[in-house]
Amino acid sequence: MPDTVNDTTTAPALGHLYGVGIGPGDPELMTIRAHRVIQACPVIAHFAARRRQGNAWSIIEDSVTAQQTVLRLEYPVTTEAIEPADYERQIAEFYDRSADDIAAQLDHGHDVAVVCEGDPFFYGSYMYIHQRLARRYPTTVIPGVTSVSAATAAAGVPLVSMNETLTVLPGVMQPAQLKEALANVDAAVVMKVGRHLADIRDAADAVGLAAQAVYVERASCATERVVPLADTAEIEAPYFSLVLIPGTGLDARSRPVR
Ligand SMILES: C[S@@+](CC[C@H](N)C(=O)[O-])C[C@H]1O[C@@H](n2cnc3c(N)ncnc32)[C@H](O)[C@@H]1O
Repeated sequence: MPDTVNDTTTAPALGHLYGVGIGPGDPELMTIRAHRVIQACPVIAHFAARRRQGNAWSIIEDSVTAQQTVLRLEYPVTTEAIEPADYERQIAEFYDRSADDIAAQLDHGHDVAVVCEGDPFFYGSYMYIHQRLARRYPTTVIPGVTSVSAATAAAGVPLVSMNETLTVLPGVMQPAQLKEALANVDAAVVMKVGRHLADIRDAADAVGLAAQAVYVERASCATERVVPLADTAEIEAPYFSLVLIPGTGLDARSRPVR
């Protein structure tokens, strides 16, 4: 047993966990705070799909030096045909393993920045790490510019004005559900478009919203694309795309009174 008075083997102070929003794609849309924390943390963790560099990594790579440890957290599955229950299990196990890897660094007293595209708490993958670790370690979440903000700026469309409500929907909803959800919106954003673009277009058309809707792909990136939703029949949408359905309140107000 070590002598408690002369014991020099005490555990180091725990490291600090940071959930860092890094914005929608353009590194210039990273906040000053996010950039400072990324440069200061000895360990950087980022998520990536298999065989891909990872969008988050491409946003921050110029901010990271060779002296920092990089934890690449690679999803075991992406869009392969797989039973939903099996997918859920594999993803939950992956987040458990990722949290364990990050916890090992924090236990050694190393601060860890888990970077996340857009804002960490707006559909961000960081939240699964937060859920597992935030009660055990000192934690700070740094908000980020969301893809929605970047997309509205790219399209040049105000999204909601005055007392309008904004509805955010995932494009992966069943087409009938999506149509029902869109039927009574003032304004909406449909995220996670990908292979669901045609269903989203049909749903918007069915409820009379197609004319005002705009498709935005890779907002703020060099490959950004903005197209009226009605003209997207030939487009094969990537995962990093969304559909904006702006409210009409502002237009109605600025019309000249006759
Ligand atoms: C897992 S969510 C992440 C959202 C992110 N945390 C945010 O704050 O915007 C991924 C979805 O966000 C949207 N997205 C993310 N970045 C985008 C971009 N640069 N342009 C358009 N859509 C984007 C797409 O709908 C994509 O399917």
